[in-house]
Amino acid sequence: MILAESLGCDVYKRRHNIHYAYATGGMYYGIASQELVTAMANNGFMGFFGAGGLSLEKIEETILFLKDNIQNTNYGINILYNHILSAKESAIIDLLLKHEIRNVEAASFPIVTPEIVRYRLKGAYRTKDGAVKSLNNVMAKVSRIEVATPFMSPAPANIIEELLVGGKITKAEAEMSCEIPVANEICIEAESAGHTDRRVANIVFPSMQKLRDKSCCEHKYSEKICIGLAGGIGTPEAIAAAFVMGADFILTGSINQCTIESGTHPYVKELLSKMGIEDTDFTPTGDMFETDAKIQVLRKGVLFPVRAKKLQEIYNKYNSLLELTSEEKNFLIDKIFNGKSFDEIYNELKQYFPSAIVEQAEHDPKAKMALIFKDYFYKSIKNAYSGNVSEKLNFQIHIGAAMGAFNDYVAGTELADHSKRSAPKIAKILMEDAAKKLNAFYNGFQKN
Ligand SMILES: Cc1cc2nc3c(=O)[nH]c(=O)nc-3n(C[C@H](O)[C@H](O)[C@H](O)COP(=O)(O)O)c2cc1C
Repeated sequence: MILAESLGCDVYKRRHNIHYAYATGGMYYGIASQELVTAMANNGFMGFFGAGGLSLEKIEETILFLKDNIQNTNYGINILYNHILSAKESAIIDLLLKHEIRNVEAASFPIVTPEIVRYRLKGAYRTKDGAVKSLNNVMAKVSRIEVATPFMSPAPANIIEELLVGGKITKAEAEMSCEIPVANEICIEAESAGHTDRRVANIVFPSMQKLRDKSCCEHKYSEKICIGLAGGIGTPEAIAAAFVMGADFILTGSINQCTIESGTHPYVKELLSKMGIEDTDFTPTGDMFETDAKIQVLRKGVLFPVRAKKLQEIYNKYNSLLELTSEEKNFLIDKIFNGKSFDEIYNELKQYFPSAIVEQAEHDPKAKMALIFKDYFYKSIKNAYSGNVSEKLNFQIHIGAAMGAFNDYVAGTELADHSKRSAPKIAKILMEDAAKKLNAFYNGFQKN
């Protein structure tokens, strides 16, 4: 008989001393809050705190809270790649090492960075039987093979050299680096909430699994690289399918945003609890506005998706704000920027953007247009987070269709009411129902 606890990989569960091969992913601004992480960890799951966008002080405060409230080490901190603020990445790693936080969820990293390698190698040691062990687990959340490959490999020699010369790792740690992968856990992210490559789980998972097997065999790692699956998981069926495909663990995101522990505003939780599987859209994103990168957001009841697309359409059409027709200009000022002129917005932005970015905007009218347009994205996300209902039509709410699937699954039960949804409670029910589905499937299979 399959039990919820027997799903997934024992190596993963033993590594973290957890009952269930189930993790909740980080959600920026502490939406994946300290309460959410604590509740998950204390109920036999894995949880990652959403440190994105928070100050170092807030992150340290949270780390102390987690250490005080969780006996085990089955929790971690989410780190987002930021090419502009790489100094912050380094400062966060310092904090994690100082407080002996054993798990990191590294997301949106297009490359392996020296800081991630430093975290992984610090304190690495050799066991009596000769195997290299790291104290720190890196879970790289990836969607693409070319990004996953270097994370499944030992750290590159140039990074090891840089860290060694800079005195950031010891000679012994450098020497051991070739025997362990940069990331001992890979979470494959299929189409998900927020930033998404819109990958199809059924396609990307088997290829990544093959890559993992090849990498483990080629480098003769003593410890397995565990592969998890995220994106679109909101029902027992999705969980059962992930484990049947061979997932060592699963990770959920969207469904945890609508729980009592999440840091999301109650107004937003109410909207989320009412959405269906077709109520999301894919729009441009503020942090990568100039590219065709996409985020998945709530569509029902808000105008953010239409307005975000309109801004990018205008940006792609012109080289300068001076080229806009008066109709376009008036539309943007009235409907999107609440009556503020482009100059007013720009003068405000100049106060807090790094000088290099302002300098570029001064010389490049297209860059200036992007900077001003991005203001809409920053404000719409902040307003949604703080529940500023006077701006409710502009709320930018990152969510995946998994939320709608979960709402369908719990329709007519007490969990239809979002105030009854606790993250570990829904995780346990989902895992138990996934186990029941699998038992029913195998029993039926044997009879036929
Ligand atoms: C509101 C929200 C914010 C998120 N913020 C982050 C983040 O800061 N860092 C990160 O790695 N992933 C972030 N995610 C992604 C989740 O950690 C998770 O990988 C993803 O939601 C899984 O896909 P699903 O939404 O289909 O369940 C966020 C997701 C949501 C819903």
